[in-house]
Amino acid sequence: MKIEALKALLEDMTIEEKVGQTIQLSADFFSDQSEDITGPMNEMAMTEKKKYQVGSVLGLSGAKETIDLQKEFMEKNRQHIPLLFMADIIHGDHTIFPIPLGLGATWNPEAIKLTAEISAKEAAAQGLHVTFSPMVDLVRDPRWGRVMEATGEDKLLNKRYARAFVEGYQGEDLKNDLTKLAACVKHFAGYGAPRGGRDYNSVDLNENTLREHYLPAYQEGIDAGAKLVMTAFNTIDNIPATGNKGLMRDVLRDEMGFDGVLISDWGAIGELVPHGVAEDNRAAAKQAITAGVDIEMMSAAYSEHLVDLVKQDDSLATLLNESVWNILRLKNDLGLFEQPYRGADEETESQSVFSTDNKQAALTVAEQSIVLLENNGVLPLNKEDRIVLTGQRRDSNDILGAWSWKGDLSKTETLKEAMSKTVGSENLSVIDDATFLEGQYSFFMDDIRLADTVVVAIGESSEMSGEAASRTNIKLPENQLVLLRELKKLNKKVVAVLFNGRPLDLSDVIPLVDGLVEAWFPGTMGAQAITNVLFGKVNPSGKLPMSFPRSIGQIPLTYNEDSTGRPLTDEKRGEKYFSRYLDTENTALYPFGFGRSYTRFEYAGCTLSKQTMSADDVLTVSVTIKNTGEVEGLETVQLYIRDKVAEVVRPVKELIDFKQVTLTAGESKTVSFEITEAQLRYTHADNTVSSDAGTFLIGVGTDSRVSLSESFVLEKE
Ligand code: GLC
Repeated sequence: MKIEALKALLEDMTIEEKVGQTIQLSADFFSDQSEDITGPMNEMAMTEKKKYQVGSVLGLSGAKETIDLQKEFMEKNRQHIPLLFMADIIHGDHTIFPIPLGLGATWNPEAIKLTAEISAKEAAAQGLHVTFSPMVDLVRDPRWGRVMEATGEDKLLNKRYARAFVEGYQGEDLKNDLTKLAACVKHFAGYGAPRGGRDYNSVDLNENTLREHYLPAYQEGIDAGAKLVMTAFNTIDNIPATGNKGLMRDVLRDEMGFDGVLISDWGAIGELVPHGVAEDNRAAAKQAITAGVDIEMMSAAYSEHLVDLVKQDDSLATLLNESVWNILRLKNDLGLFEQPYRGADEETESQSVFSTDNKQAALTVAEQSIVLLENNGVLPLNKEDRIVLTGQRRDSNDILGAWSWKGDLSKTETLKEAMSKTVGSENLSVIDDATFLEGQYSFFMDDIRLADTVVVAIGESSEMSGEAASRTNIKLPENQLVLLRELKKLNKKVVAVLFNGRPLDLSDVIPLVDGLVEAWFPGTMGAQAITNVLFGKVNPSGKLPMSFPRSIGQIPLTYNEDSTGRPLTDEKRGEKYFSRYLDTENTALYPFGFGRSYTRFEYAGCTLSKQTMSADDVLTVSVTIKNTGEVEGLETVQLYIRDKVAEVVRPVKELIDFKQVTLTAGESKTVSFEITEAQLRYTHADNTVSSDAGTFLIGVGTDSRVSLSESFVLEKE
């Protein structure tokens, strides 16, 4: 629709109709049983008339379902304004990819962009228009349940992934490419830093840390063209984000240049009341519209009060017009006025959803997400080996993880099923973990005696992470540690496969295993991916996107920590008055960027094209890597720097680039990185972002433990 016509549509709307556009209802309000949801209808201050004035629906999918509702709705809407259909396609629609933390372990933004393209294609065929993804909240605390939904602790990785997701979902031509979705960057802002790692809790971030580490990924998603941003449940500067005018108008809209649709998270406007910053829903509605929230998701503040508020206050009428204009523009950007059914098509749906190609892509990205943590020569396994498989998760299809939308567990292969296909059931003896726990495995003694290796599948269930699933204990469940101790007594090689949605404290596990494989929740094809890694069909290449602590007592623990005035350096080790613990090392058990391979990569020292660079220069850093093992492997080469002296405290090291290189056995390659002044900028005390002249330490390596052995000087006029 042309802009003039869109403006005329807005001008023709009554206040009630404008407010209607700002209201989002869940799909059940329009289901056949809607009359028996009188509770929510009242709770949402809904009437049959108002229902057909709303602007969007969340949680409905299916080509037939969305076409039927859109048709009915547009007939009953006075101006025939189409609905927006939105849903949580977070890491897959029907074909489920690894959880985002697992996707983060691929260090492969192109692979992540492909998962978003496939997810959009499956969802668009079912009539969806918007996905509440990517979640780009930086996270440094594995106690928080939604760590599974994030891509880790580093702003550069998160920026690369944010862009990859948005570009994958939205493509180049959102209006005409009916296989794409509008993306929604969430949760603005700082949701990943709740006090105590407890979901929905307040956030204590100083502004410099917020701007330096947490905002960049939201900014990258916005710069990539994301059409929506979702507000966060938490506070920022002790004001709930959803009612925080400074955060939403001054920062998000004015500074970061976001001009799309701002949608509240589920009930977050109504939650301004229990937060204690709004007397009632009326005050909450005024706070939220003043902060610039365009759509209210599943609370009744706008529905109950916005019409009256706007009638009493012209300034609010102006803000309402801005919000409705944002919503109408989004519908127009999606081409809904011309094509209200957009990509919804039953034939396309049946072909593109859960297709063989999509599952193949899910297998490949799951293989890339797997991180090899320990291997005392036991891996890869041999197909002729006799294997005992045990562990609470040996035959579980609960491997999709939280936020798996239409993922179907009944169509998800278990590790037992995948391994049986590879080694043949005659070589695979599957023993219930209870048998070991009760010490009653004498019946299986022949199998155990003949076995070359015991594979034990353990970890969390998918409910142990995700929304409202924070934990104060990030060790494995006790019965799994008991199982590992029992297995240790067998004097067999033990390989543990971990299914989990967060970094775990694995300090008790390491002494009990010979191999340790981090599989996260690997999605629809995860079991096959794990099997391909266990038996060497795939050489694992995953690298941790988040530090694994030695103890929960270290949290928050990140590689890019501050130096402090008393850094614990090697020469100071053992002395007392330095920044350390009495009972635990400062370092991570497994550091950011860590991941082993079935081969070995040898790094020669890195060389710099110059020792001094000016602001308009490019400094090239080169390093030669050799595959000194027996099999081909993919290595993620990581470039870290340290800004030695700055206006504010800077990290002891930070990732500023990475590249992936595949090397055959014995092959060497030189990898080069180009550094520009822009990569050396940081947030100053006055919130300006710029670089300072001075010395930078630099290093290239296989993970964040790399020593910054070289240096260069940035010179500025
Ligand atoms: C949830 C989540 C948000 C999700 C929304 C809709 O509470 O916080 O990420 O998109 O509600 O399901």
